[in-house]
Amino acid sequence: MDNAPNPPRLFGTIVLSALAFLAMAAVGVAISISLSGGGDRAATSGSLGSTGTALIGGPFTLVDGDGETVTEAVLSSPVNFVYFGFTHCPDFCPTELANLAAARRALAERDIESRTVFITVDPARDTPEVVGRYAQFFDPESVGLTGAQEQVAAAAQAYRVSFSYGEADETGFYAVNHSTLVYAMDDQGRLLSFFTANTSPEEIAATLAEALQARQS
Ligand code: NI
Repeated sequence: MDNAPNPPRLFGTIVLSALAFLAMAAVGVAISISLSGGGDRAATSGSLGSTGTALIGGPFTLVDGDGETVTEAVLSSPVNFVYFGFTHCPDFCPTELANLAAARRALAERDIESRTVFITVDPARDTPEVVGRYAQFFDPESVGLTGAQEQVAAAAQAYRVSFSYGEADETGFYAVNHSTLVYAMDDQGRLLSFFTANTSPEEIAATLAEALQARQS
């Protein structure tokens, strides 16, 4: 379960968005929001001025699907999609990971290399093997990461991602509410852009091609 734009979850989405934007505004970052093509759609991506890049991302220590310790150095592609979720997610995570696989193909058509880094916020169920296999099911080149609860919490905090655990049902199943923004980081660990879960692969690729172009000029 995610913070989705339907009535029971809408409040969480608004609060998270508001917090994210307040945090950026507080340090005087100019935020430019690019609106998607459809007139009735909300803003689906944004970019931050160079002074804002330190707000999102930073060091982390996690464990990959082979049980190896990895750090933020795993963000080594020109574009690295960072997405937090959990493998038992019934809706947003599978959809978004498939969407990112398509975005990566759209970037490849522009000769831009990319990689998806999926970080679980549910390390109790998502062992290294489980999260690694899950990420690679959607995209063989992606990386699934987990870690100790405090390592996962620290990584989520670095990306301003919030999550909370739901009550377990009679079978022991519980959902995890989590923010669903996708962060696109460059190979220096700087934020290139971020996207909401409904951004099309083509729009993601176009936005990032433009952002990389702007970096070079
Ligand atoms: Ni999810």
